[in-house]
Amino acid sequence: MDEPRLRLAIQKSGRLTDPSLDLLARCGLKISRGKDQLMAYGENMPLDVLFVRDDDIPDLVQEDVCDLGLVGLNVLEERRLALAARGHPVRFEALRTLEFGRCRLSLAVPDDQAFGGPASLGGRRIATTYPYLLENFLRGHDVSAEIVTLSGAVEIAPRLGRADLIFDLVSTGSTLQANHLREVHTVLESHAVLIRTPVALPPLKDEWVERLVMRIDGVQQVRESKYIMLHAPRAALDEIRRLLPGSESPTIIPLEGTPERVAVHAVCRENVFWETLEGLKKAGASALLVLPVEKMLA
Ligand code: PRP
Ligand code: ZN
Repeated sequence: MDEPRLRLAIQKSGRLTDPSLDLLARCGLKISRGKDQLMAYGENMPLDVLFVRDDDIPDLVQEDVCDLGLVGLNVLEERRLALAARGHPVRFEALRTLEFGRCRLSLAVPDDQAFGGPASLGGRRIATTYPYLLENFLRGHDVSAEIVTLSGAVEIAPRLGRADLIFDLVSTGSTLQANHLREVHTVLESHAVLIRTPVALPPLKDEWVERLVMRIDGVQQVRESKYIMLHAPRAALDEIRRLLPGSESPTIIPLEGTPERVAVHAVCRENVFWETLEGLKKAGASALLVLPVEKMLA
């Protein structure tokens, strides 16, 4: 019998595509993908990648067409509210917060206009592709404004006279800048999220979901981690331990022929900067070596 295969949906083309593929590669997945193909076959794991519009990912997972999805919190939250508004239960389950796809949903006004805070929005027209999140925000501030729901190109709505301000995704801010708009209020901080189907999976598939999540945790952990090696006087060990950023218990190794000097090896879970190395040297360390950590399994 063939092994059942997991299906993971990712954004076809957009801000999440490259980081999603990069994460999967770091998790050890090798895929073969023909040009413009909708689906890529996982060669070394029973996992296939489906390339779709990001807005479709919550539903694909919720309806169990895909087992897993990598999608922005912005898209997820909008879908959650849209479903709730129709009395539908929300059935996708968020498994992990990911470190990429950081952006925010914000209100932005034309450059030459002042902004008097959320309370000043009463009666204004706000263009967005996120009507449910916007409505939710307005309700929270007890103001009623006119929501102009568009399917894209929100940033040109004020210039076209269709809206007074906009509520849209901001990442680098260059879209706003190019359209003479100014970000005035952040409503949601977003990042990528790994979601799974609510449906119980057969044990073999479930096992692979667990393995993937564990590998993702490992990948996220090692991002900043460094392996550091140095020689130090025994007497300076306390000081050196204190200086090593985010390390647990370092390994102390005696050095042949020099009883008062030892080698110290440690995994630092934060980046090691030049300042740290200089501090260590001052404390008596020598032969300092900092290495990147490729994989880690706790
Ligand atoms: C968003 C948003 C802006 C742009 C902002 O669209 O609507 O157009 O990104 O990014 P910037 O601050 O780096 O210029 P996105 O590409 O996510 O399109 P989508 O909503 O259709 O997925
Ligand atoms: Zn989209």
